Amino acid sequence: MPYYRVAGEIPRKRHIRFRGPAGNLYAEELMGEEGFVSDSSLLYHEHPPTAIVKSEAVADTAGQGRLVPNHPLLPRHYRTQDLPAGGDLVLGRRLMMANDDVRISFAAADAGSELYRNSVGDEAVYLRSGSARFESVYGTIHASAGDYVIVPRGTIHRWLPSADGVHALVVEARGHIRPPRRYLSQFGQFLEHAPYCERDLRGPDGPLIVAGEDVPVIVRTSAGLTMLTYAFHPFDVVGWDGYLYPYAFNIADFEPIVKRTHAPPPVHQTFEGPNFVICSFCPRPLDFDPQAVPIPYNHHNVDSDEMMYYVAGDYSARKGSGVGLGSITLHPSGFTHGPQPGAVEAVIEAIAQGKTTTDETAVMIDTFRPLQLADGARSAEDPEYAWSWAGAARGAVDPDRADKGPGF
Ligand SMILES: [Fe+2]
Repeated sequence: MPYYRVAGEIPRKRHIRFRGPAGNLYAEELMGEEGFVSDSSLLYHEHPPTAIVKSEAVADTAGQGRLVPNHPLLPRHYRTQDLPAGGDLVLGRRLMMANDDVRISFAAADAGSELYRNSVGDEAVYLRSGSARFESVYGTIHASAGDYVIVPRGTIHRWLPSADGVHALVVEARGHIRPPRRYLSQFGQFLEHAPYCERDLRGPDGPLIVAGEDVPVIVRTSAGLTMLTYAFHPFDVVGWDGYLYPYAFNIADFEPIVKRTHAPPPVHQTFEGPNFVICSFCPRPLDFDPQAVPIPYNHHNVDSDEMMYYVAGDYSARKGSGVGLGSITLHPSGFTHGPQPGAVEAVIEAIAQGKTTTDETAVMIDTFRPLQLADGARSAEDPEYAWSWAGAARGAVDPDRADKGPGF
């Protein structure tokens, strides 16, 4: 996924002799999903991609720590903007929450990572701020704020942040992360109703050749991290073609779908993975029926936990709520959530004063099994968040909290 692409030099046919300028045979490698019956790419290496010389266990500092159930049940608010910065985008991850399907981490990375291969599942890395060069066996992607970078399982890659570093949300799946099936034709083309299409996806620039011998690669498996040392640098691919490769999609290229009355979050869906979805809430016109309540109704997603990452927009209207740029909220199953007290009245008044749009941007992950909480995230938790809806009912409303805004 998402569509056929070719980079560099490839031979006329699959599985025929393909030689370099010196007459050397290139080593062909198939990267294929689901055995040999789903998307794949063929890569042509200068050296055998099989030549390893060492294997060592590595301590998993990437977001490890105790996971605890969300018990007693509470909605949660974590301020990632308060977490310490440093490290790289692989081993510097701080696990926030996870279940057997997905691990969600935050990283404030300012250093280049080792070469890395996740063999458990695909990763979606969302950059909230900063920029980074993503280098892989398929080539380079220049990623910047607002980009989702989808990294297929097994892709050897590394992250090189620019000097100002990056703030990133990292989603590690146990399977594949893909565009929603309903956006695609039976042969995989994005349909006209889809909120983005092939033209919005950025694949690798082309072949990336790096010389080197005895090159370490960190490999994540279900057993933990292994450092495999390769005899030759894995970035030795002269060409590749196929449907399987990393790509970037910027949230600003998501075309919001707006209804006359309020549309539910599936209109914001961007990707899907095994037992979870990723949605993008983007700047858009407010719902335009004269009687519309243009913010979410209270809702209880009985089959899912809902994580929201607040990434851009004018959050001055939320002063006092504690939720700001970089905040992560978790609204779990078992709890009905919705707008802050007074928010409906406030937006109706704002419309009367001429407001027609919302400019907030957020990334949402709905998981279909409960998320457990990482104890490493607890230091950034806002302990007052759970009670923020009860202010009016308890006669102690904070006027700033009442102006929290749409909510999700
Ligand atoms: Fe919600």
